[in-house]
Amino acid sequence: MIGVFDSGLGGLTIFKGLLKELPDYNYIYLGDNARVPYGGRSDEIIYRYTKQAVDFLFSQGCQLVILACNTATSVALRRLQREYLPLTYPQRRILGVIRPAVEVAVELSFNNRIGVIGTDATVNSGAFERELKKIRSNFKVFQQACPLLVPIIEAGELKWRGLDLILDKYLASLKRKDVGALILGCTHYGLIKDKIQQHIGKKVRIISEEEILPAKLQDYLWRHPEIEKKIPRDRKIRYLATSYSQRFTELTSLFLGKKVEFEVVDIDK
Ligand code: DGL
Repeated sequence: MIGVFDSGLGGLTIFKGLLKELPDYNYIYLGDNARVPYGGRSDEIIYRYTKQAVDFLFSQGCQLVILACNTATSVALRRLQREYLPLTYPQRRILGVIRPAVEVAVELSFNNRIGVIGTDATVNSGAFERELKKIRSNFKVFQQACPLLVPIIEAGELKWRGLDLILDKYLASLKRKDVGALILGCTHYGLIKDKIQQHIGKKVRIISEEEILPAKLQDYLWRHPEIEKKIPRDRKIRYLATSYSQRFTELTSLFLGKKVEFEVVDIDK
């Protein structure tokens, strides 16, 4: 199985793309919606929660876990790969969303200036810049935290005029920096991609993770047949969450585009 983890239900935007483009594999989606959002939490807490989630997905038989959450990827991925995986599950793999986004941004940017928007924790971690510098040291990264966007999107206010004012404020400095590509470094932002494009300007290439992840995962599986051959292909999908929150059904419909049955699980062990 392929495990797909997010701090909540926003990762369903990415999961939707994976199901569409790579429908044959068995998947488990896990959203830690009892403890979402992660974006304003400390690094230690984000690491602990993400490790619990990954550990849970491995205990359910996943060979590969994708952190479909920018905050979890930024703060926890490299440390999990370094400290947790070799000791506990050396044959299994954990991947994130940052490296794929950065690879595409480098290809698409018309100059060597890349903007990143995300949660506070994502921006403070500097992870996008670190990953980008590994690929192209001459690229410049300009980041902007956008903490108000997740609650506005989760409230379903995608067309609200206030959102335009907020985007103007958040994107003003990136516009001045003349970025050639803008990475939407948060699960939720793909839902307001058109608005973001309007505000940042037509010539800036927008990198939205749900569009690029399926091809990147396909490529990874081709390059790693030792992992790929262990993943069953019966099209079985399990949806797991850590609580039934108030607006559960509205949120799953918003992010996945359909209603599905979730099992509630306890991962806090
Ligand atoms: N899933 C998170 C991300 O992509 C956004 C929600 C949160 O703050 O937990 O960064």
